[in-house]
Amino acid sequence: MSARPLLRVAIAGLGRLGQRHARNLAQRVPGVRLVAACSPVAEERDWAKSALGVEELHADYRDLLARSDVDAVFLVTPTSLHPQQIVDALQADKHVFCEKPLALDLGECRRVEAEAAKHPKLKVMIGYGRRFDPSYSDAYAKVKSGLIGTPFLVRSQNLDMNDPSGFFVRFAPTSGGIFLDCTVHDIDLARWFLGSPRPIRVFAAGTVAIHEGLREFGDVDNGVATCEFEGGKLACFYASRTMAHGHETSTEVFGTTGRLAIGANPRLNRVDISDAYGVRNECTPTFYERFEEAFLRETMEFVEAIVEDRAPALTLHDASEATRIGLALRESLSARQTVEL
Ligand code: NAI
Repeated sequence: MSARPLLRVAIAGLGRLGQRHARNLAQRVPGVRLVAACSPVAEERDWAKSALGVEELHADYRDLLARSDVDAVFLVTPTSLHPQQIVDALQADKHVFCEKPLALDLGECRRVEAEAAKHPKLKVMIGYGRRFDPSYSDAYAKVKSGLIGTPFLVRSQNLDMNDPSGFFVRFAPTSGGIFLDCTVHDIDLARWFLGSPRPIRVFAAGTVAIHEGLREFGDVDNGVATCEFEGGKLACFYASRTMAHGHETSTEVFGTTGRLAIGANPRLNRVDISDAYGVRNECTPTFYERFEEAFLRETMEFVEAIVEDRAPALTLHDASEATRIGLALRESLSARQTVEL
């Protein structure tokens, strides 16, 4: 029996997260070959060549799409570029994996959905990687099995360690703000655990605790929100960019006969330190240490969906709904009012 040919992939965006995805594609994902990479930044292209041995490097995304030896592209570019880059990739006959969120505007989400519908053989998946973390996957299976009865409330938070360099402020113009950048993960988790109910209304509030530069973009460094769904389902969210201890993503799912908590202790490993400061653990410093395996597993899911010619586990509708709710939170923050969906 002959081995299946390798799926030929290319990546656009080699920044903070793109380098991680590129390394996974080059070295850790079975069944793929990273044939080309694209970044407008020369040092990033040099890195792809020296660190990963990628020979085909492009400064212009159009040149990447023009390659006939690329089956699928991975987009790890600024969020503001996602919709047009997805549409361009589909028109170039490539499967697309794109980092979250899908877009910063609902019209752009719809435009991508419409383009994808014209290319039913091509797979498109947006990187809501939390779903592929082993603990989140296990919790989902337990909820589905009825372990906690009927789930009715998700309380979820995404807390980042404070970065005194001001990275978050530089990132703000293209990120869409804290709710679209961070809470969008929790929104996706809430929809997933609650069975994709229709959102009805949201309320959000926030504060600038440290990063004054965010005010210029109407953004905050700490935000809280609630979302009410149809059928009496609820979600509560908290996002922060100012934690002293590290990255902490945690979620509770409350059901009629029990509760599941995922990530309640954001420990880096299983070492307990007992010293003059007490009994403690070191914390995961960034999202990547916490979700390294999830990034790998979500990529494998996308590749398997292409190989098996089936729909990926996450639909474009899921990604559009997460953006829709994230936009409503941003609007509520700015209007200081409840927003109906
Ligand atoms: P970054 O700013 O570090 O990297 C962006 C990259 O895109 C850079 O390599 C830049 O040179 C490249 N780029 C800019 N314009 C381009 C163009 N026209 N064509 C090709 N490449 C271009 O940003 P970061 O943090 O890596 O974020 C990228 C995306 O990943 C964002 O959408 C963000 O929301 C998402 N992300 C997702 C995370 C998750 O947990 N799933 C975590 C961090 C980021």
